[in-house]
Amino acid sequence: MQKRENFGGRLAVIMAMAGSAIGLGNIWRFPYLVGQNGGAAFVLVYIAACALLALPIFMAEAVIGRRSGSNTFGAMQKLAPGTRWKWLGLVTVGAPLLLLSYYSVVGGWAVDYFMKACSFRFMGDTSGIFGRFIASTWEPLITHTVFMALTAGIILLGVTKGIEKFTKITMPMLFVLIVGIVIYGLTLPGAWKGVEYMVKPDFSKIDARVVATAMGQAFFSLSLGVGTILTYASYMRKEENIVSSGNYTALFDLLFALLAGFAVMPAVFAAGIQPEEGAGLVFDTLPYIFSRMGWAGAVVSILFFFSILIAALTSSISLLEVGVAYLVEEKGWNRRRSTLVLALGTWVLGVLCSLSSVIFDLFDQLCSNWLMPFGGILFTLFVGWKMSKADVRNELTNGGTRNRRIFPLVYFLIRYLAPVGIVVVFLSNLLS
Ligand code: PHE
Repeated sequence: MQKRENFGGRLAVIMAMAGSAIGLGNIWRFPYLVGQNGGAAFVLVYIAACALLALPIFMAEAVIGRRSGSNTFGAMQKLAPGTRWKWLGLVTVGAPLLLLSYYSVVGGWAVDYFMKACSFRFMGDTSGIFGRFIASTWEPLITHTVFMALTAGIILLGVTKGIEKFTKITMPMLFVLIVGIVIYGLTLPGAWKGVEYMVKPDFSKIDARVVATAMGQAFFSLSLGVGTILTYASYMRKEENIVSSGNYTALFDLLFALLAGFAVMPAVFAAGIQPEEGAGLVFDTLPYIFSRMGWAGAVVSILFFFSILIAALTSSISLLEVGVAYLVEEKGWNRRRSTLVLALGTWVLGVLCSLSSVIFDLFDQLCSNWLMPFGGILFTLFVGWKMSKADVRNELTNGGTRNRRIFPLVYFLIRYLAPVGIVVVFLSNLLS
């Protein structure tokens, strides 16, 4: 049996988990969902969904991962041998690959924009830039291919060398750049309307669909319900603190989403772009900001799309790693073969998404609004009802040395609130 690798330390764990969480979900998906779902009211529902539903699920997944020290399938076999829970393990091998297929398409858009930035294409008129790109068949296909190849390449380097080193450098850079863009964006004429849009809630906009979308986005953004956090937590050492890793990851993740929102919405209003535009929103709005910044815009756009690309890659590798860990540990495949086979299969699905926006939307809805919450419920039920309370306490309190006071609250959220909450959101969305 091959010795499993471990993440190097506390910072490395948080960085890797935050690296998985922070990605296109924050920068691409969050702002356009805010635009489609009525602005500030959606933001508030989203924050509540993160705290009450997503965070407990994060901890549940991490408990399973670290307790078992296994991939998703092996974890179920170890912690609940001979039961049907193993099917949950298998579902969570398939779901991240489905997600990766269209994620890689959007990652390809980022590749394309990075190249555009390098050839100074954001200087001058940028209106309709995304529409032209997406209308061509080949460009998105080629960039999807490039993105998938990069993802597979990093996975081939292995856990510590590939994932860990990558995440440590680029996250802080991304943070600085977005803050800069927010500040610049606020100086654009008409930008304050966008700020208002982000902070003044119109509660009449909230309905079952909006709540379900916010919940789905919380899962998507925190990488939940598809075994990613489980797999990463399986590389966590025993002394690491699951509760605080979860809190930090969620906090950073939320911060990046809000920053992206505040970078995009003011410019949307300044440029007269429709907030409801959908998946292309960021890819229309950011070029507008950059085009207004002159040469500074040229430099910032290169750095920005580079860091977006890295952020997307630190998420996509975490998606691919779930399946690779499964094949290596359960099927005895080597890492190379597992990576290549899964990347190729996922690439084919991604081609379908790239060619058809209907398939793209279908996969996206299926993953974030159904599969992820579904996986999330099962993880919480597993930890809340199947595992012994002593084991769960042991993981969450590091053998009774930490988090002792908040353990009852976390346990309550995992056992009752999160599963019930998700079911309620599910049902009300179905019925409406
Ligand atoms: N959280 C990632 C993002 O926001 C996407 C992701 C989802 C990654 C699920 C892994 C698992 O971009």
